[in-house]
Amino acid sequence: MVETSPESTTTGMQYKDQVMRDGQQYLMQNYARLPLVLIRGQGAQVWDADGRSYLDCVGGIAVNSAGHCHPLVVAAIKKQAEQLIHGSNLYWLPQQVALAKRLVRLSGLDQVFFCNSGAEANEAAIKLVRKYGHEHGKSAPEIISFTNSFHGRTLGALAATAQPKLWEGFEPLPGGFVHIPFNDIDALRASISPQTVAILVEPVQGEGGVNEVTLEFMQALAEVRETHGVLLMFDEVQCGLGRTGEMFAFERYGVQPDVMMLAKALGGGLPIGALLARREVAAVFQPGTHGTTFGGNPVVCAAALALLDVMEQESLPANAEVIGNYLKDKLKALRQRFPFIKEVRGRGLLLGIEFDRSAKRLVALCQEAGLLVNCTADKVIRFMPPLNITRSEVDQALAIFEDALQRFAC
Ligand SMILES: Cc1ncc(COP(=O)(O)O)c(C=O)c1O
Repeated sequence: MVETSPESTTTGMQYKDQVMRDGQQYLMQNYARLPLVLIRGQGAQVWDADGRSYLDCVGGIAVNSAGHCHPLVVAAIKKQAEQLIHGSNLYWLPQQVALAKRLVRLSGLDQVFFCNSGAEANEAAIKLVRKYGHEHGKSAPEIISFTNSFHGRTLGALAATAQPKLWEGFEPLPGGFVHIPFNDIDALRASISPQTVAILVEPVQGEGGVNEVTLEFMQALAEVRETHGVLLMFDEVQCGLGRTGEMFAFERYGVQPDVMMLAKALGGGLPIGALLARREVAAVFQPGTHGTTFGGNPVVCAAALALLDVMEQESLPANAEVIGNYLKDKLKALRQRFPFIKEVRGRGLLLGIEFDRSAKRLVALCQEAGLLVNCTADKVIRFMPPLNITRSEVDQALAIFEDALQRFAC
């Protein structure tokens, strides 16, 4: 029998060691995992197999927006699991339809395709706009994307991701992508060709180091769309769904996308991806053009509907803005004491602290003291806690972080 809980062995520590040893033997080693075996989560806290608790400011990489195991999400999953776990897209599934209707109302876009992850949502989006291009006279449609972007690990999404280090060993990648510097208006204008069908951008880059599209650049994107008839595709997989203080990050700019991708937080912790588009663009997907077995699964959609209820009832986007501003100001204040902090940036509860050196060791120092944070782009510590994190939990996180910074300085 495979042991999956610490209760069935002598001590939590032994169980933890066993899980890590077996993991090294039986799992492919494609992740640099930290020595933490997660057993339980509640709100902004998680527990390791050895019984220690941690304040979770990683949130499963911007997934657990309502906190771990929110009772409404748990109840929705249980209820749906007792009714119908899987149906198939050969048939109509009410939870899927209800979720699509809700997302359409929230976003102002018209139709939705469901899949299982952010990479899949981007993959579907790439196919959608390419087909749209072909139907509009482009024989080799091109998509423009930006330096330090991240769109996922499948081949199409990886080819769109303008980070050459992530391509190594996986060439040849699909063609049809043009990569240009982020927030560079001249490069944008110069990159448009008769084959350009779409521009793919994260309104706030997450993996790339928490970099926001400037207002001027967003206006230039809108102007290019107007002048050249290209589509704007917003990858809101990480920055969407309340994280930056609005339901969608694009709202702040007043520029509506033609196509948008969501994932991460949407399933309340269960895997889901969503591609949304304007009706005219969505219409190029016809029966047989694209699909997936599990996309829009009833349990996942029930969880997502519950997550959206929680977002509304607990005003999570507004909380993200208020608590995010509080946290950002406190982090900025740390710069005076710790000059190796170069910049604090981001919005809402997607915040990045850039250091003048690698920040990887700081993750371990925080973890030792009971705080989970993440390091991205080598020098950036990212805070992505649940959107309902309280001020006192943020204060606790800050106290640990400050202490870890002191040790990091030595
Ligand atoms: C902006 C963005 N797009 C796409 C993805 C890929 O999502 P997934 O890991 O669910 O495939 C990520 C993941 O970090 C992301 O941040």
